[in-house]
Amino acid sequence: MQQALYHPEHGYYSSGRCAIGRHGDYFTNVSVGPLFGQLLAAQLAEIWGRLGNPDKFVVVEQGAHHGEFARDVLESARKQWPNFFAALRYRIVEPFSILQDRQSQTLQSLADKVEWYDSIEALGPFIGVHFSNELLDAMPVRLIAGGTEKLVDCDGKNFVFVEKPLRESGKFNQAALDWVENVAAKLDRGYVVTVDYGRAQSRSQVTVQVRARHRHLDSPFDWIGYADITAHVNWTSIAQCAETHGLRLVGFTDQHHFLTGIISEIGGGGSPKLSADDWGKSPLSDSPKSKRELQTLLHPEMLGRTFQVLALAKKVDPAAPVVGFKFARDPHQTLGV
Ligand SMILES: C[S@@+](CC[C@H](N)C(=O)[O-])C[C@H]1O[C@@H](n2cnc3c(N)ncnc32)[C@H](O)[C@@H]1O
Repeated sequence: MQQALYHPEHGYYSSGRCAIGRHGDYFTNVSVGPLFGQLLAAQLAEIWGRLGNPDKFVVVEQGAHHGEFARDVLESARKQWPNFFAALRYRIVEPFSILQDRQSQTLQSLADKVEWYDSIEALGPFIGVHFSNELLDAMPVRLIAGGTEKLVDCDGKNFVFVEKPLRESGKFNQAALDWVENVAAKLDRGYVVTVDYGRAQSRSQVTVQVRARHRHLDSPFDWIGYADITAHVNWTSIAQCAETHGLRLVGFTDQHHFLTGIISEIGGGGSPKLSADDWGKSPLSDSPKSKRELQTLLHPEMLGRTFQVLALAKKVDPAAPVVGFKFARDPHQTLGV
């Protein structure tokens, strides 16, 4: 997975070949249209208020693809919440120069708001939010079962799996766990919000999913470097790891409930942390396009239940949940943490 996705020259992501959207390999929330970023901008604005409207509020995004989510958030903030926009600083963590170039093209008109970093380690401590959409499912996993591990070998002609006794230590999703630890170390005060598809406590064996041109392929050895390879996120292990590194689990729900929470507050025009004037401006419109986007994001049989949202926090008032989680159940109970 590491090589197939991230080999400097041939990797699916690092080569810039990854294509998302109708004419690409798969859809994401971001590729549905600008509404996802617009709704998340409302959530970010509410968090800004919750943190006491700091003069400098940093949003770090990792896995920003071509910068569409960043553009949707920044444009929405500029239009709807000028004071929040003035405080907003956007940082994209992007290791691949080809993607950095595409992101900077998308964000040309917002260039003074955005900075790029090659890795989380290169970031300074920040107050604000670390956001990601479908980042964790793209992190390499190990196929561990019991005392054995499936490794990749070559039989002279083709790649094949070979089962070997487990030798190296580490968890099946060690890359994702290391990521949580790194983010926790950089977040001074605020939230980590990550959206992805996964399961709570995962009892079953890890399976990888291979997708290209909106089709599922049978094997990760098909179309290497031209297909996406992902694995379900094990939310419980991410939350547990976060809690041992100074973050608190403050929210977990499916995307349907998360977005409904945000929308209900926008519609109601009131939030304890933002003035009614600030909060009441809704990105929702009556246009057929906007309605279609909303349905795709919310509908339980479309993306509404496929995706879940996890929120972790540091040094924030634990009293009330952020708006996206107002309809969510207790995250500790849901995740068994
Ligand atoms: C499935 S794509 C999601 C793209 C985008 N967030 C969206 O929703 O359309 C996963 C992205 O995560 C990026 N990624 C994976 N590991 C990363 C890391 N350690 N740092 C930054 N980006 C990473 C990949 O390069 C890829 O662009």
